[in-house]
Amino acid sequence: MSVTENIKLLKKYHQNLVFDYTEYPTKAIWSEKFSSEDYKKAISEWFPKNKASPVLFYLHTPFCEQLCYFCLCSKEITKDYDKVKDYLYNYLFKEIDMLEEVLVKNKIELNFKEIYFGGGSPTYYKDEEFVALIDRLKKFINFKNIDDFTVEIDPRRVDPSKLIFYKQNSVNRLSFGIQDFDHKVQEEINRVQTPELVDKLLTPEIRKLFPTINFDLLIGLPSQNVKSIDKTIDEVIKLKPSQIQTMYMHYKPQTRKYMVRMLRNNPLPDFFDRKAIFDKASKKLLSAGYNRAGFESYALPNDPLDKSMKEKKAVYNSLGTQKGEAINFLAVGSSAHGCFGDDYYVQNYYEQNLYREAISKGNLPIYRGMKLGDDDKIRRNIVRDIRTYFNLNFKELNEKHKINFKEYFKKELSFLKEFEDDGLVNLKDDYLQLTELGEHFSPQIACVFDAYNKIELNKI
Ligand SMILES: C[S@@+](CC[C@H](N)C(=O)[O-])C[C@H]1O[C@@H](n2cnc3c(N)ncnc32)[C@H](O)[C@@H]1O
Ligand code: SF4
Repeated sequence: MSVTENIKLLKKYHQNLVFDYTEYPTKAIWSEKFSSEDYKKAISEWFPKNKASPVLFYLHTPFCEQLCYFCLCSKEITKDYDKVKDYLYNYLFKEIDMLEEVLVKNKIELNFKEIYFGGGSPTYYKDEEFVALIDRLKKFINFKNIDDFTVEIDPRRVDPSKLIFYKQNSVNRLSFGIQDFDHKVQEEINRVQTPELVDKLLTPEIRKLFPTINFDLLIGLPSQNVKSIDKTIDEVIKLKPSQIQTMYMHYKPQTRKYMVRMLRNNPLPDFFDRKAIFDKASKKLLSAGYNRAGFESYALPNDPLDKSMKEKKAVYNSLGTQKGEAINFLAVGSSAHGCFGDDYYVQNYYEQNLYREAISKGNLPIYRGMKLGDDDKIRRNIVRDIRTYFNLNFKELNEKHKINFKEYFKKELSFLKEFEDDGLVNLKDDYLQLTELGEHFSPQIACVFDAYNKIELNKI
């Protein structure tokens, strides 16, 4: 029986709390007392002990030319390019200088393996600023060791020559913000971009230069329905990206008031519709030859992500399911968050004024952070396995964390009995496997292991 035929289960397990568990513990748990000094101390203590551990360098650009009504990312909408330059030259570069100083002072050479430019819109930079940025990074990152360098692409703001320019500047992976190809949906979200526009960008030359191309799609947009996603996925399949994310759209009008504008003509799909749309997209992608790579990701066979899923190296995180080589993030730019192994999380200020003020005072612009305890690390591992692989191997977890899983998680396992009775999980002696139906409820199943946010099932 498909997920949408299980109305009772959907009602019972539907939670208004939507944690996607890209991080565990979730960001709301991180402490605002974690300071710039704590961050420096964490760097100076952690990296010398983990020299070989690969690092991803994340850089956030918080500017866009036009507002998409669904967008939750940290950005300012502006047509004033001087603002972008001011951010880059007077703040971002200074933040990088400060980080470099901490590294040099502690004689730390990081094993950078990946670079990721996210946003907002990194495509906003004109060539001169992009080159200046790469030149600055080359002073402390050895580009010869970089396996993946991704730029998030707003297809409306680039042409093939810009993409070739990126390649000339060492970028080798593109992540396109697609969201949906249906014109009506695009009008509702204030982001009109046709499949033809994307097709024109993906010339044979561009495909050769960038063997890994990702498309971001969103599930739960206004006016989206099973019929419209069916057509969108047809267009996506024709364009043949090597990776696809089908993320549920998070709706948070409390923090982004403009999001209510999406409802001006029609309500958003409810949680039944969202599941049906997701299910349609997922089944179509699988039958078109894509393999699932975690909860919301798909990859073509032989794509590096598919390979890393098979080798059980992939990890689900805020950038989607990643190959998993670089699990440490060193992050710069407003709102950017970093992570050192299983030990630390840290995040910069979202607000431009606070971000700028901290840097002007000579501080790293830290908003919050967390040092994970042993219990956090075990649960993080579990939440990640559920979200990426839909299973838990108790023996592996026992060996890795020196625990007796069944004793340690006695309460959680007894709570999961109800999930088992509802056909969402199979509990074996040393194994937990989510069923096909249970995969749809993997956030709720992960939540059972969340020590800070306890799930309560709806009574129906
Ligand atoms: C912030 S954008 C950056 C890339 C570029 N600015 C663009 O739009 O093409 C990165 C991705 O975040 C995702 N995103 C934005 N708002 C979201 C939301 N409310 N819920 C889930 N994902 C969201 C979108 O799928 C988007 O492609
Ligand atoms: S989706 Fe991308 S282009 Fe649209 S507002 Fe968000 S960051 Fe900017």
